[in-house]
Amino acid sequence: MSEAAHKTDHDKTGYVRPDLTGAPAVVQIRKLVTHYGTRKILHGIDLDVREGEIMVIMGGSGSGKSTLLNTLLGLLRPTSGAVEILGQELHSITDVERTKLRQKMGVAFQGGALFSSLNVLENIMLPLREHTKLDLNTMRIMARLKMQVVNLSGFENLMPAELSGGMIKRAAFARAIVMDPRILFCDEPSAGLDPVVSSTIDDLILTLRDAMGMSIVVVTHELESAFKIADRICVLDQGKILLVGTVDEVRASTNERIQNLLNRRTENKDLDPEEYLRSLTAAND
Ligand SMILES: Nc1ncnc2c1ncn2[C@@H]1O[C@H](COP(=O)(O)OP(=O)(O)OP(=O)(O)O)[C@@H](O)[C@H]1O
Ligand SMILES: [Mg+2]
Repeated sequence: MSEAAHKTDHDKTGYVRPDLTGAPAVVQIRKLVTHYGTRKILHGIDLDVREGEIMVIMGGSGSGKSTLLNTLLGLLRPTSGAVEILGQELHSITDVERTKLRQKMGVAFQGGALFSSLNVLENIMLPLREHTKLDLNTMRIMARLKMQVVNLSGFENLMPAELSGGMIKRAAFARAIVMDPRILFCDEPSAGLDPVVSSTIDDLILTLRDAMGMSIVVVTHELESAFKIADRICVLDQGKILLVGTVDEVRASTNERIQNLLNRRTENKDLDPEEYLRSLTAAND
């Protein structure tokens, strides 16, 4: 890959992107097909995420982003194909092996998914309580260290209801990284945030990769955010991959559907034919 091909918006701020060509894959997706009932959602996905890479999964509403993410997390069983995470095939290993593997995978869910009855510190400590036998003090120290990383120090005792949208996302990130995962998955990390807060979340994602060497998979609608953080972008459309490439490669694509997505022309106009038929025949209950 040439130097020029690797330049992105973020490079203008002096950020130097690591060269990941040749890095081993931490996630390998092969011929992945997923259905909901009889309806095919993912139509044979092939994708590698490299070690230390920030891979952004982009696509219009209903393109299958969350379905793909849930399959990578082992929450949804594919109909066929393989998902290899850190060398283990997620869906053919035993439950015990999968639980162990999941400890190397952090997840920051879209809405934060914090427990409303626990304060911030207790929420962040949860994975340690669940998966380790560490004493309470050690768990507190580890959780506080991660709170520093996400810039939440001093807010340990607040309840989720007392947090702003940006703070909820930060707490969700702290919980996702408290076990020092090798791979971090984030669903719409900046959705619903104002541009300034959204930009600080992007910076946090870059910091996690640079300072902690994590490989990160981000699902997002936000073009600006995708262009800022992505090493590569995977563009999904109706359950198929249109393109996997650098920010510049995506921008330069002449594919009409990609250009529509970049210019926000897809939504509403672009109904999936099957979905359209179903909407006409659906009962009004
Ligand atoms: N639990 C489910 N049961 C049946 N169909 C589903 C289910 N979840 C999603 N779908 C359908 O699968 C398709 C892909 O959905 P998915 O949630 O993966 O899209 P997405 O790209 O994440 O969209 P969004 O950007 O709106 O979150 C959609 O047509 C959706 O209606
Ligand atoms: Mg989704």
